Amino acid sequence: MSMTEPHARVKILRDLLNYYSYRYYITHDPAVTNQEYDALYQELVALEANDPQLITADSPTQRAGSDLSEDFAKVEHPAPILSLSNAYSAEDLWAWQERNQKLLPEQTVLDYTLEPKLDGLTLVVTYEHGILTQAATRGNGIIGDDVTPNVRTIRNIPLRIPVEESSLTPPAKLVIRGEVLFLLKDFEALNRAQLEQGLPIYINPRNTASGALKQKDSRITATRPLTAYFYDVVTGLNEHEVNPANRWERLNYLRELCLPIAPDVAHLPDMQAVIDALPTWEARRRTLGFEIDGVVVKVNNLRLFQELGIVGKDPRGAIAYKYPSQEASTRLNSVTISVGRTGRIVPTAQLEPVFVGGVTISNATLHNYDFVAQHDIQLGDRVIVKRSGDVIPYVVGPIVGDRNGEEQAILPPEQCPYCQTMIAHPDGVVDYYCPNTECPERIFRQLDFFVSKGGLDIEGFGTQTVKQLLDQGLIANEADIFLLTREQLLTLEGFKDKKVDNLLQGINLAKTRPLTQVLTALGIEGVGGTVAKLLADHFNTIDSLEQATVDNLLTVDGIGEVIAETVVAWFADPYHRTLLAKLKAVGLTFESQARQRDSDALQNLSFVITGTLPTLTRDEAKTLIEQHGGSVKTSIGKQTSYLLAGESAGSKLDKAQKLGIPILTEADLIARIVAHTGA
Ligand code: IVH
Repeated sequence: MSMTEPHARVKILRDLLNYYSYRYYITHDPAVTNQEYDALYQELVALEANDPQLITADSPTQRAGSDLSEDFAKVEHPAPILSLSNAYSAEDLWAWQERNQKLLPEQTVLDYTLEPKLDGLTLVVTYEHGILTQAATRGNGIIGDDVTPNVRTIRNIPLRIPVEESSLTPPAKLVIRGEVLFLLKDFEALNRAQLEQGLPIYINPRNTASGALKQKDSRITATRPLTAYFYDVVTGLNEHEVNPANRWERLNYLRELCLPIAPDVAHLPDMQAVIDALPTWEARRRTLGFEIDGVVVKVNNLRLFQELGIVGKDPRGAIAYKYPSQEASTRLNSVTISVGRTGRIVPTAQLEPVFVGGVTISNATLHNYDFVAQHDIQLGDRVIVKRSGDVIPYVVGPIVGDRNGEEQAILPPEQCPYCQTMIAHPDGVVDYYCPNTECPERIFRQLDFFVSKGGLDIEGFGTQTVKQLLDQGLIANEADIFLLTREQLLTLEGFKDKKVDNLLQGINLAKTRPLTQVLTALGIEGVGGTVAKLLADHFNTIDSLEQATVDNLLTVDGIGEVIAETVVAWFADPYHRTLLAKLKAVGLTFESQARQRDSDALQNLSFVITGTLPTLTRDEAKTLIEQHGGSVKTSIGKQTSYLLAGESAGSKLDKAQKLGIPILTEADLIARIVAHTGA
């Protein structure tokens, strides 16, 4: 622990952490490891807990969220938060320029900024003397909702600017405007987590961002990783010496204050250059990592922008060039049902073909029956369908006003359409399932997954081959794949010597895939790559995983109740037991090769480490515990078996004592291991 007095130390910690998050979230070149960051962060938490007086609004600990926010207070914006008029073609843009030219002195040359039109929500953020003091939604443009505690949880918004030492001092009061959104990777991760917990998935990033920002409890917002990009100054610069005269400089000014601004903003000399840049933007769209619904063209010169004025709530000096709508309406004719490898049933809407965002679609996912019920979607409805990014088109909802009374409810099937088994609807999950592990459709989907890139990645083994082999009765389960012979494969249509050799080689190679990959390929619901790795690292062999109870599984950091139960149920199924025996017999990898365990002395025990240990570092203690079969978690709960405590242990020690969790010293731990191994 540091010798500096708390007040000074807290300030140093705040500065460091603020700077390190900037390096991590904005410049993407982390200056320290996550562990180093966490250690400093924990030190700050401890100091602040000791003396709450030391907590300041710009402390990184304030991102954790607070439960104090009630209904939102209202905030009056210092200037109207304007909107944008739209253009849909190059002609529209030329016409817009011409209208503007007429309002300006002859010979005025207009240059422009070109920015992505971020498909999120407007955010208005106030910094006072560089400290984030307020954040509000657009509201009605004049008055917005105060969402400050929620916005403090957004990692890439600095709580204090500038983060990096620079010659810039922000004005006494700086109000800036930007957009809050989900990066697609964060959105996908959020949905994976939802799926793994049996919870409904979020449908689109924009609405989910909106929902997250408007949570009453900012701790919930803190669990939804939002991102913000800023693009404008609402007020604050006029009275300040730094007074960028154009938008381009303004964007750079924001960047210099270490605020996040949208990637790929451009400064272009004239309208022709803007128009020439449009195709590049359209192509870039798919790789941006977040959704945009167009680009925004703005008059660069701020004096001219001002002079052009406002019509209604749209400034004349800026325009949104919008991409063709990705939504359309059409009739929902019928619903088909697909059964996935885990038995999960997904309803798909069969539509009157309709042209959306450049392609004709005739079916769209309905996600699940909860979604259908929540949105009151009925057979025969006119529905809105949407395509966004690369995701499969989905039904947004019905146009209720268009109903004629002949619509019919969409209900989950009673029997599996492929094997006629009664459909199951387990408690606490949204989805319906075909529970029959021998359902032909499930087997086909599982085999297809097993050989795919996401599974064992068997080269030359595609969906078509899976179908052929099943049809010919050459395989019935995963293990059969490894028993295929040259002669059998040569009987398949289109399979000649070379193709057969390649396939056999691919199959052979698959036997060497590591345990994590084998576990993933088994297709246990909720066990994707991440969870499979947790399981492989903890249990080391499929045999010990097979014997694990729900309680054992719950000691693994990152495994929750739903997954624990699914895993246990999967291994309890006789069909899966037989399958595993066969897979083992054909020589698949059933053990982690990397880290062979030293012993089982701490098998199924979970530890939390606190304070400074006499000889081991925390990492060494963690490795030691894991090498002997135990696991290490970061927070204490009822599942914790022992607290390993060293010098100057803090709040964790109190908590362990309160919960009656036994406390071990480093010497106790080592004695336990030695007693077991006799080393
Ligand atoms: S500028 C001059 N720039 O689009 C100030 N708006 O359809 C007017 N938006 O309400 C706004 N990205 O929420 C501007 N780069 C960008 C934008 C952007 C997204 C949103 C903004 C606005 C809406 C208008």
